[in-house]
Amino acid sequence: MRTKYIDLISQTYEFPQEEFKVEDNELYYNDIPLMDIIKQYGTPLKITYLPRISQNIQKARRWFNVAIARADYQGDYHYCYCTKSSHFEFVLTEVLKNGVHIETSSAFDINLIEVLNENGQFNKDNYIICNGYKKQQYIDNIAQLIADGYTNVIPIIDNLAEFDQLDKAVQGKCQIGIRIAAEEEPRFEFYTSRLGIRYNEILPFYENKIKKNKKFKLKMLHFFINTGINDTAYYWNELSKCVSIYCDLKKICPDLDSLNIGGGFPIKNKLSFVYDYEYMAEEIVSQIKQICEREGVKEPNIFTEFGSYTVGEASAVLYSILQQKRQNDRELWNMIDSSFMTTLPDSWAINQQFIILAVNNWDKEYERVFLGGLTCDSHDYYNSEANLNAVFLPKIADNYISKDQDEDVKEQDVQYIGLFNTGAYQESVGGYGGIQHCLTPAPKHIIITKDEDGEIVTKLFAKEQSYKSMLKILGY
Ligand SMILES: Cc1ncc(COP(=O)(O)O)c(C=O)c1O
Repeated sequence: MRTKYIDLISQTYEFPQEEFKVEDNELYYNDIPLMDIIKQYGTPLKITYLPRISQNIQKARRWFNVAIARADYQGDYHYCYCTKSSHFEFVLTEVLKNGVHIETSSAFDINLIEVLNENGQFNKDNYIICNGYKKQQYIDNIAQLIADGYTNVIPIIDNLAEFDQLDKAVQGKCQIGIRIAAEEEPRFEFYTSRLGIRYNEILPFYENKIKKNKKFKLKMLHFFINTGINDTAYYWNELSKCVSIYCDLKKICPDLDSLNIGGGFPIKNKLSFVYDYEYMAEEIVSQIKQICEREGVKEPNIFTEFGSYTVGEASAVLYSILQQKRQNDRELWNMIDSSFMTTLPDSWAINQQFIILAVNNWDKEYERVFLGGLTCDSHDYYNSEANLNAVFLPKIADNYISKDQDEDVKEQDVQYIGLFNTGAYQESVGGYGGIQHCLTPAPKHIIITKDEDGEIVTKLFAKEQSYKSMLKILGY
């Protein structure tokens, strides 16, 4: 019988995969030898492999541009990065190397853009799509951008009152967009998104307010489907409703020329993940074109605001197993050296699943385990890989000793694991660098790139959070 961990993985999935391979029973992620990284930096460790960000941006752009060319579509495609998925400077520096535009969601995002502009990374004629509910500070910051000569700021009106607030704050001409309040998926807890303006209010709003105002030009219609861009009847139905509204609006508003379809390209969260991005881009472009042709309206420029897709697949978190606890005949706990609740809060809050793999010991037998985090919270665990509905890892020896117990123990005798494609939202949702549950410190974080010869280059971005930094925040 084949009982090794490597057999389990290669019999359950197509393996190796584009970003995962195993050599000498050790895992490589995007060609990064993870055990070498662990030997150098230890665990727990967050890693971000920057080239993956550019690769994903370029792929998406190619899919949309090819789809546009194939359909003989008359509009252009614009890739925006949704900053809230990761605000780190190293992320934005990589993102902006690709000449993309930015979507913002709060007042401080605007300060971030100003810094990027001062650093010469962001041009004043790039698009800045200002989404989200806008408190006065956000409105004022948007007005300041416009006053400072940013020529393509597009505040997206989230509710009717926001227009008057903008009117008061903005001096000079300004392009705007309207967010359509999308219908939620049928199984969701409510029918209509709280974000945006109801379908039937949009045309009257334009007629009664925007059209009469000389300062504002309505350029963009925006919608975002919470559950992402999926090949489902629900998604296509929502898209077609939005394009129909676009056409109705375009007939009375000649300035309107852009449709923003939001974020929502999915990322690989399981090894059996299959998603035909190329087909989806083609289908989106062709559906928009068909509806516009039927309505006799020129096709809009298409904007996207991919967050997860831009950064999610660039990062991973590596942990070691501290010890194993058997709590009854069927439940075997591998305790990790950090906390899932604090390092991957979506795994706890919304049951988000990530790819989980052993980093070493692929030649060992496997066993089913529950993974436990270090906080005292009974919800700090991870026990369900998306495909197998359980977690299987190499067997832990009876006399297992972790690095924490004896730092001279050999790396190959310690069990290391990784959760992969964790680059979106986890730091901002988890309050990176702040107070963490049970004062569990934020792990060390390193950035990985490649030099001209294709050699891996690593750089420490942040050390493990210190007790001093936490006590300071707490007022001590
Ligand atoms: C308006 C808007 N655009 C884009 C995004 C990014 O979505 P994703 O990370 O799924 O690409 C979000 C996410 O919440 C959003 O609210």
